[in-house]
Amino acid sequence: MKKSDRTARLAQSDIRAMTLACAKVNGINMSQGVCDTPVPPVVVQAAQQAMAQGHNTYARFDGIAGLREAIADKLASYNHITADPETQITVSAGATGSFQATCMALLNPGDEVILFEPFYAYHVQAILAVEAVPRYVTMRPPDWNLDVKSLEQAVTSKAKAIVVNSPGNPSGKVFTRRELEQIAEIVCRHDLLVITDEIYEYFVFDGREHISMASLPGMADRTITIGGYSKTFSITGWRIGYSVAEASWAKAIGAMSDVLYVCAPTPLQHGVAAGIRALGPSFYRELAVEHQQKRNRFCGALAKAGLPPAVPQGAYYVLADVSRVPGKTSRERALYLLDKTGVAGVPGEAFFEGPEGSRYMRFCMAKTDSDLEKASRAIERFAS
Ligand SMILES: Cc1ncc(COP(=O)(O)O)c(C=O)c1O
Repeated sequence: MKKSDRTARLAQSDIRAMTLACAKVNGINMSQGVCDTPVPPVVVQAAQQAMAQGHNTYARFDGIAGLREAIADKLASYNHITADPETQITVSAGATGSFQATCMALLNPGDEVILFEPFYAYHVQAILAVEAVPRYVTMRPPDWNLDVKSLEQAVTSKAKAIVVNSPGNPSGKVFTRRELEQIAEIVCRHDLLVITDEIYEYFVFDGREHISMASLPGMADRTITIGGYSKTFSITGWRIGYSVAEASWAKAIGAMSDVLYVCAPTPLQHGVAAGIRALGPSFYRELAVEHQQKRNRFCGALAKAGLPPAVPQGAYYVLADVSRVPGKTSRERALYLLDKTGVAGVPGEAFFEGPEGSRYMRFCMAKTDSDLEKASRAIERFAS
């Protein structure tokens, strides 16, 4: 039996491959974006309580009312986005589920979608899965500043959407207000839409501010804002994310999410809703401070080892220049480094369409302090 053409276009995940290679040598896995940090107790307790109280059946396709309302309040206070929880918010199976449902609801085969490179590979895969066409606008380290001219050049008559992932994976890029305004101007002039991925919205460093595209004048009705709690509450396995969109788009996204996932896990939605209600600004501030410290420690080690990091402005990954590590490709270099240090990262090719990827590796820094310390020391020893 032949597989679909769609399947043939999907790339195998380098991240999973490195995770397997790492497990074989019992190394420190800095390849996968899973957080080893603890889940806030209030979130776990509320989920357990929901199960004990019998909230174990399907939820409404777009999420339980309590979670949609909690997200709406958070959107108003943190993101400066006004959203009706009854008609505009769709809870789905993680931000990944929200992104896929959005692509299915709003893109036709052949529609072009612009992404900034380096990109998050799942975005590309989701776009390919609906037979839309990714177009890349390359950003350059160390700051990954927006090149407005390149963006303008990437907009063709087939362009439908721009993906903005801020803070970004893998670059850690945090788009400034000015950059978002420049993107918004192009979006409005060419009648495009924006799909954001703001899953790292609380992981912003050095006093930077997270700004949501949908909070900019005129952008609320053109933007699908995607977020989730995998990273913020360290619950990547729970699969709770959401999208926010203009009501008729939200209806279409909700219908697709229903087809794909039926609903996000009901008791876990209760857990996340309780977490959003219970945890105040200090929780989110500490999250940023803690990850900024992890960033400083590990980027310091990379620099010492002669693997210069593009120090991230947010999120919890770092791209390091590993061109001095033996190997022809980044994959060979990643395996060499794993062999010598016991630290696994992802080959840079996974995040670039062009050849630049071969000089980079991405490391996930959301590790426990003790694992991060072990990894930092191993990388520092690599210097000698
Ligand atoms: C940019 C980005 N979006 C989405 C996700 C996944 O989010 P979720 O677990 O909510 O599907 C990740 C995880 O690594 C990510 O880096």
